[in-house]
Amino acid sequence: MAKQEIKWRLWRVAVFLAALAPLVYWSFQVYQNAAGPEPGRYLLLNIGIGGLWLMLLTLSLTPLSKLTRWKGFALIRRQLGLWTLAYAVLHLCCYALFILGLDWALLGAEIVKRPYIIVGMLALLGLILLGATSNRAAMRKLGKRWKSLHKLAYPILALILLHFFWVVRADMAEWAGYAAVGALLLALRLPPIARTLPRLRYRVVTR
Ligand code: HEM
Repeated sequence: MAKQEIKWRLWRVAVFLAALAPLVYWSFQVYQNAAGPEPGRYLLLNIGIGGLWLMLLTLSLTPLSKLTRWKGFALIRRQLGLWTLAYAVLHLCCYALFILGLDWALLGAEIVKRPYIIVGMLALLGLILLGATSNRAAMRKLGKRWKSLHKLAYPILALILLHFFWVVRADMAEWAGYAAVGALLLALRLPPIARTLPRLRYRVVTR
C-alpha cells in the first residue's frame, strides 16, 4: 500500500477515535457515579450537544477544504456526517430510556408539554435521509440531485438550533455562540462568498 494511502487511513482512524472518545468518557463518568444526580439526563444533554458539535464540524469541512485544498477534510466528511447521525440516534435512545422509561404511551402527552421534541424528530428524520443517501451508489443514482438533497443539511442544522433554543431556559449566550457559527457556515456556502474561498487561499500562499 502506498505511503500516502496509509497516512489517510490513519487520519480516518484518528477521527473515528476522536468522535468515539466523548461517548466513552461520558459512559465512564456514569459508571463512576460522577455524572451528577441524574445520569440519564447527563447523557441525554451531553450527547445532544455532541451531536450539534459534530453537525457544525461536518458543515465546516467543505469551506475548510476549499480554503486549504487539503484532501484530508473531504476524506472525513461522510464519516463525521454519520457520527452526527449516530449521536442523534443515541440522544433519542437516552430520551426513550431515561425520560420515557420506554413507556411510549407517554409520548403524546410529552409532545404537548415539550413541542421541541417534534422539531428534534424532524431533524433526526433529515439526518437519517442524508445518512441513507451518503454512499456512492446513492450518489450515482441521484446524480445532480444528490448535491441539492444534501443541501438539506442547512435546514436540518436550523431545526437542531431551534430545538436547542426551545430547551434553553436561562443562559442564551451558549446557544447564541452555536447559532453564530451556524450562520457563518451558511454564509460561507453562499455562491459569491464560496467562490472567493479558493482565491483567498491563493493570496495567502503568494503573499
Ligand atoms: C429524535 C428526536 C429528539 C428528541 C426526542 C430530543 C429530546 C431532547 C430532550 C428531552 C432534551 C432535554 C430538554 C431538557 O433540558 O429538559 C434535548 C436537548 C437537546 N437536544 Fe434533543 N432531541 C431530539 C433530537 C435532537 C437532535 C437530532 C439533536 C442534534 C443532533 C439534538 C440536540 C439537542 C441539544 C443540543 C439539546 C440541548 C442540550 C443542553 O441543554 O445542554 N436533539 N433533546
